[in-house]
Amino acid sequence: MPNNNLAAIILAAGKGTRMKSKLHKVLHPVGGRPMLHHLLESVQELGTDKTIVVVGAEREQVVAAAQGCDLVTQDEQLGTGHAVMMARDVLKDHTGDVIVLYGDVPFIPTSVMQAMIDMRHVSDDTGLVVLGFRPNDPARYGRLVVNWAGELERIAEYKDASEEERAIDLCNSGMMLVDGQSLFGWLDQLSNDNAAGEYYLTDLVAVARANGRKALVVEAAEEDVLGVNSRADLAYAEACFQTRKRCEAMEAGVTLVDPTTVYFSYDTILGTDVTIEPGVFFGPGATIEDGVTIKAYSHIEGAKVRKGATIGPFARLRPAADIGEGAKIGNFVEIKKAKLDAGVKVSHLSYIGDATIGADANIGAGTITCNYDGFLKFQTTIGAGAFIGSNTSLVAPVMVGDGALVGAGSVITKDVEADALAVARGKQLGKAGFAAKFREEQSAKKAAMKKKGS
Ligand code: UD1
Ligand code: CA
Repeated sequence: MPNNNLAAIILAAGKGTRMKSKLHKVLHPVGGRPMLHHLLESVQELGTDKTIVVVGAEREQVVAAAQGCDLVTQDEQLGTGHAVMMARDVLKDHTGDVIVLYGDVPFIPTSVMQAMIDMRHVSDDTGLVVLGFRPNDPARYGRLVVNWAGELERIAEYKDASEEERAIDLCNSGMMLVDGQSLFGWLDQLSNDNAAGEYYLTDLVAVARANGRKALVVEAAEEDVLGVNSRADLAYAEACFQTRKRCEAMEAGVTLVDPTTVYFSYDTILGTDVTIEPGVFFGPGATIEDGVTIKAYSHIEGAKVRKGATIGPFARLRPAADIGEGAKIGNFVEIKKAKLDAGVKVSHLSYIGDATIGADANIGAGTITCNYDGFLKFQTTIGAGAFIGSNTSLVAPVMVGDGALVGAGSVITKDVEADALAVARGKQLGKAGFAAKFREEQSAKKAAMKKKGS
């Protein structure tokens, strides 16, 4: 449901020092996609008139990743309240609500943001809504001080909190929805007279109340407001993301033999009655149709696998691999940018790249398409029903016609006509008795040398 007259401000000016990375924190991927993009997707689903990203350190990296957003720069990080002030100009004509989000808290469900909007509009005297949660370990989060009437009185930053306040288990996630007509006026009333010497966004609660408006709390699950500050947090975010994806897959009719060992990408598309064995990894851009079986330890990225095909074990499908209906890709086979029609079999130890293979062709063990000359890539075309003998090298560009046979061990450099036989290998020599004679001679020589030596 699009919320017209809503603006989002995403704070992403912090360096993310604890990540110890050249990559900006909000660009670290979870499920194969930058954290910032996860958040932007939810914001887009919510529907905003404007989405503003506040950038600072490593600005260029974030700018490139935040296309379609308004970008404002916070040169000095003087606090979360100060960061929001940077959006003043962009929002000068904005009259609706403003939702403040953190780039490093990327998994807030759209439904939770919507709940904040709904709560603010129950009565117009509510000036802002804060997203709270009760973490297992409240650690150094800001504490939400709620009064007897269920209204939020203020947020006590951990650094500034009393013992009593630190005992509160309802914490500030950082997310806030504010009446946009009041926001910047209230921000002007913030001071930096606190333990960190920063302009705290959290102080807006007390400011709103001083201006005669109420502040309320929406509570979220800890998992929904998961923040990433370190590589360990990143791994935890990935684990939560994968758990969710695995549940979704199983609910949609996919068998995961050992769910915790299968890794999905944010955009993995799965049909029904798909079976996925242990240790399978999906990179971005995979589509798996109904009835496909993916055997253990396969790696699949940017590939389409059509109905009823079988992949693996130990197979690798790279971008633009298109595997036809009922096809069979076996162990230690790598396929890249190749279209395989229905019923094709590539069962063992092959590399197929930059190729098209017609229906029901059989590609023997160890077949390699030699697609690269060190500078350019070339195409291999194999016709329907062709049979390529084991250990064949197809030196591209080259075509093998429909129904042709290629003898094992061939190095094919010229096109093969339909229904023809091509054999391109050294001729076999046969000399009767040679081996026996050879053994006799050599063992006699060796014995003579030993005698001389002793
Ligand atoms: C903030 C909240 C705290 C809450 C916690 C939840 C304040 C004062 N405190 O604390 O109540 O429990 O988040 O994680 O808001 N940022 C900027 N510019 C700045 C400062 C921060 O863009 O000048 C961005 C950071 O990049 C980060 C986010 O704002 O994405 C939060 O900043 P951070 O310094 O981590 O806030 P906390 O001290 O953790
Ligand atoms: Ca933080």
